[in-house]
Amino acid sequence: MPRYFIWTIGCQMNKAESRQIAGYLDSAGYRAAASFSNADLVVLNTCVVRQNAEDKVLGTLSLLKGLKNEHPNLRILVTGCFVNSHTQELQRRFPHVDLLFKPGDYSDLIAWGQKQGIPIERLLRYSRNEGWRASSPCAPIPIIRGCDNFCSYCIVPYRRGREVSRLLEEIICEVEELVRRGIKEVTLVGQNVDSYGHDLPGHPDLADLLTELNSLDDLARIRFLTNHPKDISLKLVDGMASLSKVCEHLELPVQSGDNDILKSMKREYTVGRYRELVQIIRHKIPQMSLSTDIIVGFPGETEEQFEHSLSLVQEMRFDVVHVAAYSSRPGTIAWREYQDNIPAAVKKERLNKIEELQTAIAGEINSQLQGQEVEVLIEGMKGGKWFGRTRSNKLIFFEDAGDWLGRLAKIQIEKTSPWSLRGQVKNN
Ligand code: SAH
Ligand code: SF4
Ligand code: F3S
Repeated sequence: MPRYFIWTIGCQMNKAESRQIAGYLDSAGYRAAASFSNADLVVLNTCVVRQNAEDKVLGTLSLLKGLKNEHPNLRILVTGCFVNSHTQELQRRFPHVDLLFKPGDYSDLIAWGQKQGIPIERLLRYSRNEGWRASSPCAPIPIIRGCDNFCSYCIVPYRRGREVSRLLEEIICEVEELVRRGIKEVTLVGQNVDSYGHDLPGHPDLADLLTELNSLDDLARIRFLTNHPKDISLKLVDGMASLSKVCEHLELPVQSGDNDILKSMKREYTVGRYRELVQIIRHKIPQMSLSTDIIVGFPGETEEQFEHSLSLVQEMRFDVVHVAAYSSRPGTIAWREYQDNIPAAVKKERLNKIEELQTAIAGEINSQLQGQEVEVLIEGMKGGKWFGRTRSNKLIFFEDAGDWLGRLAKIQIEKTSPWSLRGQVKNN
């Protein structure tokens, strides 16, 4: 039986699409391999959001060139955001690649399979694959592809194209099927989930989709990401408050705490608006856990402007902050209009300052959980310990002899750190 290996970097969207690609390859009779070296077909699902991600892709491509020299029958497929619209040029640069296909567009993959005599099928309901059972109880589901926002620093809209929502019925169908196969938690993913449905007949929105999914028996939890502060609606927040399966966790990237930088970033909200939003959300759902993204060292960011980001982190007390050093991406608005003029060492220093502050804050927030009992969905085992997440998306470890995979456990928290929690099972 031929084997495939899918290498995935980047965001949840890539993880979700890798899961779909695995479904397609399963349909053709392939089975998963443990690494590159024992695969007949490899798929690189790539990311280019920052230069260091692109460098990883280039490194892996050259590694595979060596592998293909040793095993000329190895088939190499490349997808994800590395694939731009100049595929012929990419094909010339990387002749050892058998197929480049655009993220989320499987028609080229299917056509290529046909030419090779590999019967890859358009799978929605995994029908050929009856024996399949999930190895994790959590699945990411793409609900909207592409992005219409064109934040000035961001390459994503150039690589993923304009927004296209999946039909509501199609998503529900896929989730129902996954639930039958043991999935307990779904994460609905899109670059901007608040735009979901604007291009569909009848304009269903994310809140409508959540309402439908909330009524599926045997599905325990629903998450979604990423929201955009300029688009998130009160209807959605109210939906989160009233729908029992929707978890109290939001990814709401602020990107900067300075109004002029936000304007240059083309984010279309102010710090004041963001603050107001968070107040409303926390008023309606006091236990809400909030994550954000921040970019430091955007072109022209002064020390004072950076301090505004730092003080916003201090003020907001986020549960998680993902900080990134600005990386100039060819083709973007910021790349055309501004000079990448903050030295790497300054970017690094600013990044460290935010991380240090956030580590202290996350440590404090988590220590308040000490002694509490929380509901945890168990995702797997690592180093002899079970692990899973609370509804608020906190990672938690515990030891127990029972088989907890895919089950909801009540865990009493005994030890906390800024990054994870430890506890003991209370139910059995
Ligand atoms: N759609 C989401 C995520 C986009 S990419 C959003 O609107 O936030 C994920 C994160 O990467 C972004 O939130 C941003 O913080 C970061 N990012 C994107 N482009 C970047 C760049 N050129 N340099 C540094 N970080 C970047
Ligand atoms: Fe990029 Fe902005 Fe779209 Fe997010 S919303 S993917 S940051 S352009
Ligand atoms: Fe990377 Fe593309 Fe996601 S650039 S972050 S894989 S949308």
